[in-house]
Amino acid sequence: MVEPMPPVSLTAFYTCAVRARDAARLAPVVGDRFAQRLMDERGAALWERMRDLKLPALSIIARHRLIDDRLRALLAADPDLRIVLLGAGFDSRAFRLAGGRWLEVDEPAVIAHKESRLPAADAPNPLQRIAVDFATESLAQRLAPFAEPRRVVVVMEGVLLYLDGAQQQATAEALASLAPEVLLFADVMTPTFFRRAGQATHARLRELGAPFKVQSVDVPALWSRAGFEVRARHSIPAAMSRLGLARIPGVLLATLLRWLRDGYVVLELARRGRA
Ligand SMILES: C[S@@+](CC[C@H](N)C(=O)[O-])C[C@H]1O[C@@H](n2cnc3c(N)ncnc32)[C@H](O)[C@@H]1O
Repeated sequence: MVEPMPPVSLTAFYTCAVRARDAARLAPVVGDRFAQRLMDERGAALWERMRDLKLPALSIIARHRLIDDRLRALLAADPDLRIVLLGAGFDSRAFRLAGGRWLEVDEPAVIAHKESRLPAADAPNPLQRIAVDFATESLAQRLAPFAEPRRVVVVMEGVLLYLDGAQQQATAEALASLAPEVLLFADVMTPTFFRRAGQATHARLRELGAPFKVQSVDVPALWSRAGFEVRARHSIPAAMSRLGLARIPGVLLATLLRWLRDGYVVLELARRGRA
């Protein structure tokens, strides 16, 4: 029997479908050759509902590639790095990137489906998975056995957009006690970007029961209260332009379209000192 998934978890099929399409191109930008294997009829149905949204799909590819590139650079310097994919969905980085000790965290139904299609034991790198019911379980308690004496990298891709202030606060506190140094990658959207460019996606996701919470959370301010400081901002629209995914002239991004360039970014948030 197929275990039912919370609406936000179903969106993992959308990003997976987008990566599967990219992988089927002649010159893929991400090249996630595992994505198609993770799709099922739920994923196919969701893709049909979302497939006309061209730019949002390209932004998903650009942000995935941006994070891939940063992780590759970090792994080249430290192949033993612990990487936690929080809200991992159907991310296949533990299978695609060289090095790293990987921990994937997501809802039970997501982990069960992933394990059935792409077992952790088959990964070329050490990989563990934990199933967490985010609504009822304490993330801090579930992560406690994985505390490290050294730096940990955490990826929350396509996740913060769905979490309200209280959920982000609890997540920040849980991550703060994970290691003496935590580096977090997370994509965030400004309310202006959301208003001008995010409405179509949001309308579909709301129909699905997974609305964005962008309007209610000042992400850098909230995370700074838990000791996380912004170390870098990687513009997703600028990456789309650089990677040839969208024709957005650099000069426009630097002037008239600054709201676009700076409105949707992958943030690198760093925290030193265990909570
Ligand atoms: C849009 S999907 C992104 C999946 C994957 N990171 C990717 O980029 O393909 C959002 C994911 O967040 C997970 N999620 C839901 N609530 C969460 C929470 N409180 N903390 C972490 N992840 C959560 C969902 O189960 C889902 O897998």
